Order: sequence, then C-alpha cells, then structure tokens
Amino acid sequence: MKTLKLIGTVFALTLALPAIAADVGAGQKIAEATCAACHGAQGNKPAIPGAPRLAGQHEDYLLKALNDYKSGARKNGVMAPMAANLSKQDMQNVAAYFAAQPDGLVLKK
Ligand code: HEC
Repeated sequence: MKTLKLIGTVFALTLALPAIAADVGAGQKIAEATCAACHGAQGNKPAIPGAPRLAGQHEDYLLKALNDYKSGARKNGVMAPMAANLSKQDMQNVAAYFAAQPDGLVLKK
C-alpha cells in the first residue's frame, strides 16, 4: 500500500513539472544574436534609451512580458516584432537566460 502511495506521489509530481524545460544555452544564443543590440548581451547594459535591464529579472515576469508582446496584451512597437519571432520554447529559454545574468535590477540610491 505504501509503495502504491509513493508511486502515486511520484507520478503526480512528474505531471506537475512544467511541460517544457528551459534551455539556458539556447536562450543565450537568441540573446546574443537578437536582444543584445538593445538590452546588452547579458541584459544588464541597455544600449538604447528606454530599453530596460532584463538581467536578474524574475523568469516568469520576463516570460509573461514576451507572451504579452506576442499576443498584443502589452503593446510596444519595438518589442512586438521581436516577440513575434520567438516560439514558446524560445521565450522560455531566453527568459531563463536573462533571469540568470548578474548586475541586473538595481534600486536607485
Ligand atoms: C531594437 C531594440 C530592442 C531589441 C532588439 C529587443 N528589445 Fe526588448 N525592449 C526594448 C524596449 C525599448 C523595451 C521597452 C518596451 C516597453 O516599454 O514595453 C523592451 C522591453 C523588453 C521586455 C520587458 C521588460 C520589462 O521590464 O517589462 C522584455 C522581457 C524584453 N524586452 C525582452 C527582449 C528579448 C528577449 C529580446 C530578444 C529576442 C529583445 N527584448 C530585443 C527594445 C528592444
């Protein structure tokens, strides 16, 4: 009985895992090829005025922002075409990459 319960728990946990796991290395490739021009390669050196820092931002926040640009729920003429080119997996990967970068979000002192 105990074993059965354990198998049930393991099965339930497996189902609870996100459907797609993030690949940080693949995210880095997208970041360096596309996003770096405005956000900096690590997302911590914005190269144009108005480009926010992405480094160290919460992964789920970044993912939501990208999804919203793609769906049109968040409107921005610069970011909409960027997000339009990304698949769900790309967004997951690039969000995981930027979330893991240093020297990101700061409080103004
Ligand atoms: C041509 C310049 C440019 C490029 C290239 C670019 N961005 Fe942006 N990004 C911006 C600007 C400007 C904003 C602010 C838009 C706004 O106010 O909603 C922004 C906002 C964002 C945000 C929202 C951040 C926040 O704090 O709410 C995310 C996430 C983001 N970009 C991710 C990316 C990713 C991922 C890529 C590469 C696939 C990328 N950007 C490429 C200019 C750019």
